[in-house]
Amino acid sequence: MKPILQHPALFLVRAWTSVNDFALGIHTQPNGLVSCSIGDPQEPGKGEFSSNARYWDNLSYVPAGYRSMRRILRLVEPGSDDVFCDIGCGMGGILCVAARKPLRKCIGVELFEPLCEIARQNGKTLRGRKAPIEIMCSDATTADLSEGTIFFLFNPFGSQTLQDTLENIRHSLEDKPRAIRIVYYKPVYKSVVDALDWLVKLHDFDRFGGHALAIWANR
Ligand SMILES: C[S@@+](CC[C@H](N)C(=O)[O-])C[C@H]1O[C@@H](n2cnc3c(N)ncnc32)[C@H](O)[C@@H]1O
Repeated sequence: MKPILQHPALFLVRAWTSVNDFALGIHTQPNGLVSCSIGDPQEPGKGEFSSNARYWDNLSYVPAGYRSMRRILRLVEPGSDDVFCDIGCGMGGILCVAARKPLRKCIGVELFEPLCEIARQNGKTLRGRKAPIEIMCSDATTADLSEGTIFFLFNPFGSQTLQDTLENIRHSLEDKPRAIRIVYYKPVYKSVVDALDWLVKLHDFDRFGGHALAIWANR
């Protein structure tokens, strides 16, 4: 009982996540087996899993939370021509919520194979899926992002990886011009995106659900 009494809000969040996971037929709660940290570059070999990360600024898997995911998707209103791409998709929670809408496709990009495997499994077991779900196990800086029209990021990494990932997206627009939106939830490195002259800000909320939210479109 003690942990529950000490962290009643956390207990409620976990309970709400379990109820939603059960209803959707998926599993998105982090556990010790899939905490997935690379470790400290000063101490090679200490990390739990190897990866192809270009930089050492990846952040751990934490799901965005069902209430926030649904609010964000209501705001963004993806349509039938949209490809919703979660950069740093973890276990694929928001992909599954989005895929219950009639979108063209949902794509998840994730660094760690154990998380990719769970996200793929969730894509198979999801109840009420209307859009296909594809998981790319790759670093976001080098993944093929040329299909995405809505890029969702829930504070997945630091500024170096963010810069290169945005450049990866910009480069994909040269090959395949299209309207895109960048949806950055808990935008710790918002200034990195604000500095880019090929993007224009559409929304900037100090609080939207649990965290701040900023959205940009290409010019
Ligand atoms: C805060 S979690 C977000 C999980 C998911 N988007 C959600 O809302 O439930 C961040 C995720 O980004 C992944 N990640 C970190 N760096 C990455 C990179 N360079 N390329 C792809 N994924 C990365 C982490 O492994 C982690 O699963």
